[in-house]
Order: sequence, then C-alpha cells, then structure tokens
Amino acid sequence: MLILGIETSCDETAAALVDDTRTIRAETVLSQTALHTPFGGIVPEIAARAHLEHLDGLIERTMKEAGAGFADLDGVAATAGPGLIGGVIVGVMTGKAVALAGNKPFLAINHLEGHALSARLSHDVAFPYLLLLVSGGHCQLLIVEGVGRYKRLGTTIDDAAGEAFDKTAKLLDLGYPGGPAIERAAKGGDPARFAFPRPLKGRPGCDFSFAGLKTAVRQAVENAGALLPQLVADMAASFQQAVADSLADRTGRALEIFRDRHPEGKALVVAGGVAANTLLRQRLASLAAGYGLELVAPPLRLCTDNAAMIAWAGVERLRLGLTDGLDFSPRPRWPLDPGAPKVIGAGVKA
Ligand code: KG4
Ligand code: ZN
Repeated sequence: MLILGIETSCDETAAALVDDTRTIRAETVLSQTALHTPFGGIVPEIAARAHLEHLDGLIERTMKEAGAGFADLDGVAATAGPGLIGGVIVGVMTGKAVALAGNKPFLAINHLEGHALSARLSHDVAFPYLLLLVSGGHCQLLIVEGVGRYKRLGTTIDDAAGEAFDKTAKLLDLGYPGGPAIERAAKGGDPARFAFPRPLKGRPGCDFSFAGLKTAVRQAVENAGALLPQLVADMAASFQQAVADSLADRTGRALEIFRDRHPEGKALVVAGGVAANTLLRQRLASLAAGYGLELVAPPLRLCTDNAAMIAWAGVERLRLGLTDGLDFSPRPRWPLDPGAPKVIGAGVKA
C-alpha cells in the first residue's frame, strides 16, 4: 500500500510517500522559516502563498525520488485541519486533485492525528498509549486507544508549550523559532538563578498553562536592564527548567489515570516540535520508567511538522477503510476528541 501525504497547515510545505511496511520511500520538506523570521512569527497570508507556489513542485520531486507515478498510489492523504486555513485549503485542494485525476481514495487527515500516530511509523508501539503532544500550536495529553479513538485528559488553557518557547526567545532576543534557540542558550546557563513559576503544578487535572510563566520572564527581562550573554543563558535555562517541570508534573497526573484505565498499556509517547527538547526527553524518560513504561519519541524529523506522518495516518486509516469524500471541507479547528470538556480560557488554537 503506497500513500502520498501532503502537509501545509503551518509553515512547512511537505510531501512524502510512505508504504504499509513503515517505509518512507521519499520525503521533501520546505521550511518557510526564512520568510517569516523578519516578522518574528508566522504570517498566515505569506504562508498560504508560499504553499501554493511550492507544493506541486515538491510533490513532483518526491514522486520522482521514489521512482513512483500517480498510478502506483493507493491513496492520497492531506492535512485537512486544524491549522492556518489558507495553507490547509492549498493542501486539501491539491490532494483532492491528485486523487480525482488518478481515481484514488482521498484521506482527510487531522494534523493532530498525524502527530499522534507518528510513533507507530518509527517504532513498534501498540495501542493503547499515553501521548503528550507538545508543539507550537498544541499542548495536550491524550490516551490513544486506536485509530480515530482519542480521549483527551488535558489541554492548555492559554499558550501551547512551543508558543511559550517562541515568545520567551523573542523577549530574550534569540530569534525564531524559539525552541532550538532557547535550548542552545540554556547550555551555558544556571537553571536555578531565576525562580520562575510552574503554572498549575500540583493542581488537580491534567491541563497546562504557560501565560504566567511568560509574564514572569517579561518582568525579569524588564528588571534586568541590559541583556548580557550570561543573563540570557541563565534566563533561558531557568525558563526551560520551569517548562520541563510543569510538563512533567501534568504528565505524571495523566500517567496515574492511564495506569488505572489501561493497566495493559506499555508506552508514553511524546510528539510535536517541543519533543525535540533534550531536557524534556530526559524528564519524561525517568517519569515513564517509574510507571514501568517505555518512553517512545519519534526521531526529530518526525516530531516537527512533516508529511510522512500524514501519509502514515493515511495508511492507518485506509487499512480500516476510513476514506473521505471529495466534498470534505477544510477545518481551521478540529479537536481530536470532540467529547472532551471545553476549556475556559483556551486560545483559538486547537
Ligand atoms: O510540531 P511543530 O513543528 O509545529 C507545530 O505544529 O506547531 O512545532 C514547532 C514548535 C515551535 O514552537 C518550536 O519553538 C518548538 O516546536 N521547538 C522546540 C525545540 N525545537 C522546536 N521547543 C523546545 N526545544 C526544542 N529543541
Ligand atoms: Zn504540528
């Protein structure tokens, strides 16, 4: 089974060919970071235009690299939400066109499902597992019971973890994207110098909050005067420590629930761009070990936005016959667990 995957929901234009033996036959990712850097964040109109300019060329290149033609495809999977709607429309329309021209099934993929199932492309992970999804737009704890079967235990009531990294990096003049920049700066820093808050730590439930932490960093920056290198390093290290602490605290609570509901579960999976963070991985690995679980983290290129995870979600869905019609509408918002309680104060991002 060979699936073409398309990802255009944020600032990466990506195409990939993946088969049902978990092999990525070819994969192309074009980052738009350089286009957005001058603005200190993603500009949706610029993103949509860049996707439109590059997507067909990327698909052509990916097919060529794999030595495959459209006739060899068994289906076409495109991210259909949640995300920046202009980009999502570009991906969905292109995917539908390829599917229609070749008379192949179309698979409308929830971007979050792509992240959620990515660990099953890189590792041999069985359902159920507990998933910590941490990226620029999302921060959630979910029990993954099967394809299309997700129970959300917690989500952010304000910013996503990656967003907190990006905003803090901006405050510290470290540039965009902020996660890798903070991690680099933190290497020479003292994580105990600034006592930044651990929002919601020790509180009931599994929700997240990062807005207070960001405010604390802003106040510390204002009080500090000049941003000397050692100060920036200490702030980056203290901030990173605070984020890792709160993510670990919330994940610990979710692990309690997961163990009660699914004693047969064997893995804690971390996915999304922030899963690239080494300190976070260390904290989660020891946390998981305490529950007798393995920490599974997909390789970095599968953690940040990519089309292989979308193609793989397509493989998983097509195997179950879960195809979509060509009338499927792109969805700017699309929760993985529609039954989850609404979160007061949650931002616009899913
Ligand atoms: O999954 P992703 O590529 O895009 C979204 O779907 O949001 O995640 C991007 C996010 C950015 O906020 C970036 O700052 C963060 O992941 N990130 C990191 C690291 N690498 C990327 N955060 C912390 N540490 C890192 N090493
Ligand atoms: Zn993502």
